[in-house]
Formats: sequence, C-alpha cells, structure tokens
Amino acid sequence: RTETMMPPRPNLFDFHGVSMIHYFTDNWENIQNFKARPDDVLIATYPKAGTTWVSYILDLLYFSQPDRQKSTPIHERVPFLEIHIPNFSSGIDLADSLHTSPRLIKTHLPVQLIPKSFWEQKCRVVYVARNAKDNVVSYFHFDRMNFVHPEPGDWNSFLQRFMDGKMVFGSWYDHVTGWWERKQSHPKLHYMFFEDMIEDTGREIDKLCSFLGLTSTAEQKEKIRHLAQFDNMKKDDMANYSTVNIMDFKISPFMRKGKVGDWKNHFTITQNEQFDEDYKKKMKNTTLQFRTEV
Ligand code: A3P
Repeated sequence: RTETMMPPRPNLFDFHGVSMIHYFTDNWENIQNFKARPDDVLIATYPKAGTTWVSYILDLLYFSQPDRQKSTPIHERVPFLEIHIPNFSSGIDLADSLHTSPRLIKTHLPVQLIPKSFWEQKCRVVYVARNAKDNVVSYFHFDRMNFVHPEPGDWNSFLQRFMDGKMVFGSWYDHVTGWWERKQSHPKLHYMFFEDMIEDTGREIDKLCSFLGLTSTAEQKEKIRHLAQFDNMKKDDMANYSTVNIMDFKISPFMRKGKVGDWKNHFTITQNEQFDEDYKKKMKNTTLQFRTEV
C-alpha cells in the first residue's frame, strides 16, 4: 500500500484538556459507559511505552493455547478500548464480545479519563512507563508510519511538540505522573518500566505473576520470556501489526528497535540540554524516576 491509499491524517484538538484525535473520541459515550467486569485487567500506557510487549506477555500468561496465539492478532486478543476507526471493529465492540476470563483490555487514556466502571469494579491495572527520551523517539517513528495519527513533521518540531504536550493522548509528563499518583492510593495498580523489562524480563514477569495472583511454573514463565523476546515478536505476524493496513512498514516497522538509549542517535547536544532543563521543571513535583540507559 502506498501513502495515497491510506486514510487522511487527522488533526489534533483539545479534549477535556488533553490533545486527541477523533478516532479515539468518536465513540466517547460508549467508552465512558463501558461496563468493566471485576476480573478485567486493564493495560494502560502512554503510546510507545511497551504496550504490545506487556499485552503479549499477559495474554500468554493467561491463555497459553497455541491456536489463539497463532490465529488471532494481538489487537483482537487485547482490544484497544478507545479506538474507533471506520471499517474496523471498535475497541468497545471487541471488548464486549470477548468471552475470555479475564478480559485483557488496552488503553492509552490518561488516568482522569478512564471509564469509572474500572474503578468501581476494582479491576487490576498494569501501567507501563518508558523514559521520555526513548518514548518520544519511538513515537516519532510510529507517527511517520501510522496514518491514523497526525503528520509528525521533522524531528526537531516533533520533539518540541512532545515537550509542549501536543501529542495524541496528550502530555507524556502528565500521563506518567498522573498514573503514578493514582498508584499511591490504588492497591491494584502495578506500575512498571520498559527499562526494567529490558534489563531483566524474567524478573518483571515474576512481579506480574505475583501482582495478578498467577501460579505459572518456572518452566512456563521461561517459555513466555523466550516467546516475548524482541526478535521473536518481530517475526510473529500476530504481534507485529502486519495484518493492519493503516501502517506503512516500508517507512518504519512496528517492532522497530526495542532498545533503551536509542534517543542518543536522535537528540543533538543542544536538543538534549534543552530537553533536560525543561524536564526538570516539568517533573519537579514528582517522586517518579526514570532511567535513560540500563
Ligand atoms: P521502538 O520504537 O523503540 O523500537 P507500544 O507497543 O506501546 O506501541 O510500544 C512499541 C515499542 O515497544 C517499540 O519501541 C517496540 O519496538 C518496542 N517493543 C515491542 N515489543 C518489544 C520486545 N519484545 N522487546 C523490546 N521492545 C519491544
């Protein structure tokens, strides 16, 4: 598929104080009225923080049936709650039609926009965060190839827009700190980091199991750790989004690099200094800490 066959790029607009595009707000009434079930597990992230990786692992931990993983793309196994794109099943419809228990549901919404039913039902939530520098680099390449997002423009203007919070799903700074604050009062929220996953995936799988109350054996966990390695997921058409025709993989693959520290190949010295200075100001009131290398 060429660019001309892709849907037109949408515009960003302000939605309850968060930059959004219509594909994630068109179904808003159904999203806000979504009926969560007490055993639903919500996987919440800012875009490009490792959503697919953690979704893939959770799906394997709960449902290790070969035909499920071989025949159904990850975005159908783990519906994306707020997505509503013409000619695709909406996230709400997919979630409503899931017969599994639990249901694994993905969202990129900031904490204040999560449908209240998830809190009322006391669902477990897994939040994945990634350091801002690698997150923005990954987001830049994603917006180049994903035609349901606005044009990224050049790297320098994209970075500026990220710092200004003018991205789909709003400000990274508000997102990661908003969820971090919620964790302090919500016992069923597991806050995890992309960098920790890279450093020791097995350890992070163990932590997920204890949070979720899963009793997977060491052998099962080792198998899942292996299946969820970058190179294996990259080859898996049910995980690499190759079944989705809103992305142009010639521009950039979905499974792009999967590393900590790729930001060093993108930030100039000046950009890095300006970013760090601005970061300190934006993050001065939080105890949340990130690693930009491991
Ligand atoms: P990069 O663009 O830096 O490579 P999301 O699923 O939230 O959209 O995040 C996508 C990012 O996670 C991409 O980052 C992708 O390569 C990375 N990723 C996905 N699966 C991974 C894995 N198994 N190991 C390491 N990184 C992975």
